[in-house]
Amino acid sequence: MRSPGSFIVTLLAALVGAASSQNITNATWLDTGDTLQLSADPTFHFSLLELLGMGVYRGSDAADVLGAADAILPSDFTSFNSTFAELAARKQVQAFAAKNKVNARDTFFQAASYWRQADFFLHGNWSDPLIDLYWENQTACFNAANAALPVPGVRVTIPTSSNFSAIGIFYAPDHTTSAKPTLLVGNGYDGSQEDNYHQVCVAALERGWNCMTYEGPGQPTVRREQNIGFIADWEKVVTPVVDYLTTRTDVDMNRLALSGISMGGYLAARAAAAFEPRIKALVVNPGIVSVQAGYFTGFPDELLALFDSGNQTAFDAVINALLLNSSTPSGTRWGIEQGLWSFHTESPFEFFTLTGAMNLTGLYDKITIPTWTANSTRDTSFPNQSVMFATQLQNITNVALVTYDGPEGYHCQVGASTSTNRDVFEWLEDVFE
Ligand SMILES: *[C@@H]1O[C@H](CO)[C@@H](O)[C@H](O)[C@H]1NC(C)=O
Ligand SMILES: *[C@@H]1O[C@H](CO)[C@@H](O)[C@H](O)[C@H]1NC(C)=O
Ligand SMILES: *[C@@H]1O[C@H](CO)[C@@H](O)[C@H](O)[C@H]1NC(C)=O
Ligand SMILES: *[C@@H]1O[C@H](CO)[C@@H](O)[C@H](O)[C@H]1NC(C)=O
Ligand SMILES: *[C@@H]1O[C@H](CO)[C@@H](O)[C@H](O)[C@H]1NC(C)=O
Ligand SMILES: *[C@@H]1O[C@H](CO)[C@@H](O)[C@H](O)[C@H]1NC(C)=O
Ligand SMILES: *[C@@H]1O[C@H](CO)[C@@H](O)[C@H](O)[C@H]1NC(C)=O
Ligand SMILES: *[C@@H]1O[C@H](CO)[C@@H](O)[C@H](O)[C@H]1NC(C)=O
Ligand SMILES: *[C@@H]1O[C@H](CO)[C@@H](O)[C@H](O)[C@H]1NC(C)=O
Ligand SMILES: *[C@@H]1O[C@H](CO)[C@@H](O)[C@H](O)[C@H]1NC(C)=O
Ligand SMILES: *[C@@H]1O[C@H](CO)[C@@H](O)[C@H](O)[C@H]1NC(C)=O
Ligand SMILES: *[C@@H]1O[C@H](CO)[C@@H](O)[C@H](O)[C@H]1NC(C)=O
Repeated sequence: MRSPGSFIVTLLAALVGAASSQNITNATWLDTGDTLQLSADPTFHFSLLELLGMGVYRGSDAADVLGAADAILPSDFTSFNSTFAELAARKQVQAFAAKNKVNARDTFFQAASYWRQADFFLHGNWSDPLIDLYWENQTACFNAANAALPVPGVRVTIPTSSNFSAIGIFYAPDHTTSAKPTLLVGNGYDGSQEDNYHQVCVAALERGWNCMTYEGPGQPTVRREQNIGFIADWEKVVTPVVDYLTTRTDVDMNRLALSGISMGGYLAARAAAAFEPRIKALVVNPGIVSVQAGYFTGFPDELLALFDSGNQTAFDAVINALLLNSSTPSGTRWGIEQGLWSFHTESPFEFFTLTGAMNLTGLYDKITIPTWTANSTRDTSFPNQSVMFATQLQNITNVALVTYDGPEGYHCQVGASTSTNRDVFEWLEDVFE
């Protein structure tokens, strides 16, 4: 009888033969094609694709997302929050009714994701009580799911030397106390650490890594509970979090990597570059040279000139008129509303000014650790910035720049997390070999 191993070798040989004879690797749709559009509104499409992609790591169910996609009206933020609140409420009832722990866990994770979606487009009105109420439900659902994991994550509040505490969740792959490689993951402008669990941490844990997520000023918990907006000097967040990691015997400090997702690509690079020598590898998705340049992408020249003129009153009047205009695309409206909320300012001029300090000018040579970044062709938030970032890294030899094209080419490769995790962990495991 043949062993299963020889069966796999034979199967692989057949597959390799088939691939080379048909040459399936040159299919152009893989290099340039888009995905099916989940909404006529490109901003809603992006959010829905991201949520659909979380399904592979238990963050959603496909029919839920496609059903919501069918119900949501383009450019109607109320239809977006209402659809997801209704879906989340139903899931939450089903989760509470589940007697089996695994059933409850899976369903609570989905409910938590849908409450986060319900919140996502609501930040234009800071007085809207739903900003906190939805989040309370997402947190309760996520905590209930987490408690049913084989090794539940531990929520920690980490005091800093500034006027805020960092908020984190530490996940271990098992109950052993041996020192393990650890991935510290931080989000950016709008994502949450609960999103990061599904996008990155499940994959890290499956590979035997610890995974810790954290949030600082401007991010979901710190913005809501401590009322503090984004800061540019992100080492004020990362250094206390790394201090926390040193207190844990199950963390191998020689194998500590920092990952920054979305605008977190700037935050992580800044912290690791200039100020945190205990980080041994950096993963930025994408690499960011200037947050302000990213957010000004597509702005008309006259508006940029008005900003440069320094006339705050005039600039704010133009942006506020855009927010009141129903023809303004969802991406512009959401981007500015989220910026005002997360940077904690009512002035668009002040928001854009604050993003100006979020650049890496003068810091590139200080980045001395192996660095991985993603060149995503469809990234409209920070177009080509990973390439510009990687080009600037002259003081290290290990710079990985992976191109994501076609359906995988969205900002942060939404919908393609398994591809990203494959590439990142292949690279990280080589770095820490
Ligand atoms: C198959 O694709 C490879 C890589 O793109 C190329 O080098 C090779 O010439 C192709 N073979 C055929 C038969 O088209
Ligand atoms: C791939 O290239 C081969 C050789 O040029 C061509 O015959 C084939 O049609 C191509 N396949 C696709 C899917 O484009
Ligand atoms: C959606 O948000 C609007 C604005 O806050 C609110 O009036 C509405 O009740 C929300 N929908 C649901 C189902 O929570
Ligand atoms: C903001 O939300 C509050 C509380 O729900 C509501 O009273 C107010 O009318 C809303 N403002 C706008 C501009 O929609
Ligand atoms: C949060 O969940 C509770 C049930 O636990 C529900 O009664 C409440 O309406 C939900 N909150 C919102 C804002 O939908
Ligand atoms: C926190 O400190 C920063 C700068 O040190 C200051 O700008 C901000 O107003 C403070 N925020 C609060 C809520 O105390
Ligand atoms: C700023 O713009 C406003 C309105 O466009 C104008 O009235 C004002 O004079 C400008 N201020 C300066 C200092 O140029
Ligand atoms: C709203 O925006 C559209 C498209 O840019 C523009 O044509 C229209 O004049 C604007 N309406 C107002 C009231 O500013
Ligand atoms: C970069 O940020 C610094 C503050 O951190 C600021 O002084 C400088 O003007 C910014 N440079 C650019 C090119 O935006
Ligand atoms: C390059 O990195 C080394 C450490 O690897 C550091 O000592 C040196 O100062 C860096 N160069 C510059 C120009 O910052
Ligand atoms: C980045 O991706 C684009 C689009 O696929 C490609 O043209 C470019 O060569 C890539 N840049 C690098 C440096 O890999
Ligand atoms: C992307 O950035 C690189 C490095 O700065 C530059 O050489 C290239 O021209 C840029 N490509 C585009 C399409 O802007």
